[in-house]
Amino acid sequence: MKSIKAIHPCSPRSRRALMLRRGLLLLGSGVIALSSVGTVLAMRAGGQVKIPTTAADFFEKGTQPQPDPELFDQIITSQNCTFCHSDYGVDVAPYDSWVTSMMGQSANDPVFHAALAIANQDANLAGMLCLRCHAPGAFIGGRTATGTMADFTTEDFDGINCNFCHRVVNPVLGAGSAIAYPTGPANPDNAIIASLTSQNLIPVGAGNARYVLDPQDNRRGPFSDVPQNLHGFSSSNNQVELITSPFHEKSEFCGTCHDVSNPAFSKNAKGQYVLNALGKPHPTDNPAEMMPEQRTFSEWSISDFVNGVGYADNRFGGNDPDGVVSSCQDCHMPKVIAGGCVFYQFGAPWIERPDMPQHSFAGSNSWVIRGLRELYGAEEADSRGLTLERVDAATARNETMVANASDMTLSQVGADLKVRLTNQTGHKLPTGYPEGRRVWVNVKFLGAKGNIIGEHGAYDYLTATLNEATTKVYESRFGMSSAIGKAVKLPPGESFHLVLNNVLVKDNRIPPRGVTNAELASIGAPVLGATYADGQYWDDTQFAIPAGAVSALVTVYHQTSSREYMEFLRDTNVTNTAGEIAHGLWSATGESAPVIMDTATITLAPTLLGDLSGDGAVNAQDIAMLLNNWLGSGVGDLNNDGIVDASDVTILLNAWTG
Ligand code: HEC
Ligand code: HEC
Ligand code: HEC
Ligand code: HEC
Ligand code: HEC
Repeated sequence: MKSIKAIHPCSPRSRRALMLRRGLLLLGSGVIALSSVGTVLAMRAGGQVKIPTTAADFFEKGTQPQPDPELFDQIITSQNCTFCHSDYGVDVAPYDSWVTSMMGQSANDPVFHAALAIANQDANLAGMLCLRCHAPGAFIGGRTATGTMADFTTEDFDGINCNFCHRVVNPVLGAGSAIAYPTGPANPDNAIIASLTSQNLIPVGAGNARYVLDPQDNRRGPFSDVPQNLHGFSSSNNQVELITSPFHEKSEFCGTCHDVSNPAFSKNAKGQYVLNALGKPHPTDNPAEMMPEQRTFSEWSISDFVNGVGYADNRFGGNDPDGVVSSCQDCHMPKVIAGGCVFYQFGAPWIERPDMPQHSFAGSNSWVIRGLRELYGAEEADSRGLTLERVDAATARNETMVANASDMTLSQVGADLKVRLTNQTGHKLPTGYPEGRRVWVNVKFLGAKGNIIGEHGAYDYLTATLNEATTKVYESRFGMSSAIGKAVKLPPGESFHLVLNNVLVKDNRIPPRGVTNAELASIGAPVLGATYADGQYWDDTQFAIPAGAVSALVTVYHQTSSREYMEFLRDTNVTNTAGEIAHGLWSATGESAPVIMDTATITLAPTLLGDLSGDGAVNAQDIAMLLNNWLGSGVGDLNNDGIVDASDVTILLNAWTG
């Protein structure tokens, strides 16, 4: 087993590498980037006002920082696990798949660094909240009090790591818990929960990284039949116990962080989110009454997945033979056939398990991992575990995941092409981090010679620009109320200012199976700017078929980071170079190139232009349908310009058959 040196991003060696790399990256766009930062600086000098929040405003329950290693075993890095848990297959060994996941890189992620700097510009110490989730080892070690990474040790950049996850304790024990009580040789959970209860630190509701940790380095996992505990002694010289933890197999475990709310805002009687009286924790400590940013866990919690959903093609179930999936782990840690440690290769007492959870945590984000390899350079990237082989394997897993996320069906309805997109995930599609994430439909109408005679949702790969007006884009967007805009001296309305946003502007993302509009509203993730019937987990879009089209090639794309968002990160940062670095890597790695979710071609029957109802004639019924969708898109947009207006009426009247 090789020993891997972690290199602190601020060490002289990596700083040099970074400067060099930045120099290279900036060659192309540097002049523009630097001058635009200058402009923003000037604007800011007389402009934006920082919200004077304090540490108290971002206080959250759960285990509090415990920097004393005598009282609390500090979180140790993944390097302490690699000897036994790595290098026996890029797709199966826990370390190999985890290190190329976004959770493995959550504290190195350049996009996160860029957003963190802006959060701290916008609201004093907001970074304290971000870091407790993105860098839990640093939070527990007491090194996030500045809201920045200034006090981090090398180890703190290990992100959401092995030791952290395997020390998390179910905060809801006993009668209140639906999850069986964990068992183990020296189960300390009761005492841990009792101690936090006496300090009023037990969280209510999911999310915001209000985790409860075992003060001792005992490792919780799914298995009760580990033949021999080889984990030795912890840093404070306690025997490391293995504790069988059913909690680790439940979505609630992931829900600890996969609901994100801004505690500086409270929901008022009118359902608006207003800034709290500052200087103290959120009045109710209930995430349901804070400004919702991500609701992935809550989306899942109201869906049919709670009781399990079967897939005939077993697209998510891994080696689980019945194909039924329920928890986040079922889809994001699918079962693989492999050893739990490298020793299975040597035989008894170690076994190859049929249900080893893969630590891939595949989602959509591949470019950031590739960007990190670019940032470090091949040699340093290898030493950090980000080998090309592992990065390629992670990209392939993400692409499969994204392709499995939806199904598309095409049909012709009269003079329209209908594209139905069905959400096959366990939450909204797309879910999670809203800024920059989007899914869209691209339609190319083809003529008899295969030539493109009309396109919707065209994407320009050179400028990373999407023609949004001509298609449907599934996404959520946030903004600032006029009160907040006034307070911080920024224009109100739609914005990427994560910690200032207090208004939902758009959310047409496709709901998961089995949810109602009322349930979505109750978890803080209402549908906005679209209509979904209760239980509808698909969406239809209609496109008018232009004259001469004989077929249509339809492709649905997923994109992780939009150009608009990456430019925001670059141009809004007046603190450090994190925004330029993130933007530079984004440019250097293909600008978060869209990934195909579905693609298919449909042969189109000859149509009568203007025959919207499909009855073979252009008549009064069609004009009525057009007028019904006046100024909309889709039905009646006969010239495919994204809007139903007078020019479409003209086309329809010219084609009139009566
Ligand atoms: C000296 C070898 C060795 C090292 C180092 C090691 N482990 Fe293990 N670990 C094992 C073996 C062996 C198993 C049992 C595998 C099996 O039964 O399939 C195991 C199992 C586990 C389990 C599963 C327990 C269960 O009950 O489900 C967890 C969790 C775990 N290790 C976490 C860690 C973490 C975290 C680290 C690093 C901080 C680590 N291990 C370091 C050898 C090691
Ligand atoms: C039925 C399978 C399934 C279940 C259950 C499921 N997911 Fe997913 N998830 C997916 C698929 C497929 C994707 C890829 C599509 C995407 O990125 O939007 C995904 C994407 C994600 C993403 C990335 C979104 C992005 O692109 O930024 C996160 C985060 C996530 N899931 C977390 C969770 C959590 C947490 C749970 C449990 C509360 C969960 N998932 C349950 C299938 C599932
Ligand atoms: C985000 C949290 C998380 C991180 C990070 C994480 N694990 Fe796990 N791990 C889990 C969960 C959850 C399970 C159980 C999943 C299940 O049973 O469905 C698990 C299961 C395991 C198991 C038991 C299954 C087996 O392989 O024998 C081992 C061992 C393990 N993890 C080791 C590691 C190591 C080593 C790392 C770091 C390289 C790591 N884990 C990182 C959450 C995590
Ligand atoms: C300590 C908090 C924490 C816990 C616990 C946690 N996550 Fe995460 N997860 C994060 C953060 C933070 C990120 C994003 C890191 C980034 O992009 O910089 C993330 C990213 C992800 C992604 C990547 C999405 C993408 O963009 O590709 C998936 C999938 C995911 N988590 C699934 C899970 C699952 C499944 C579990 C439970 C087994 C879990 N997480 C537990 C904090 C957590
Ligand atoms: C409770 C946990 C939690 C907190 C607190 C949190 N995040 Fe995250 N963050 C996540 C998760 C989970 C994801 C991944 C979701 C996904 O991939 O869709 C994420 C993703 C991100 C991403 C996207 C990274 C990428 O590569 O695309 C950025 C940027 C980010 N967070 C910034 C912040 C900032 C800034 C704060 C503080 C204001 C913050 N986060 C607070 C959990 C958290």
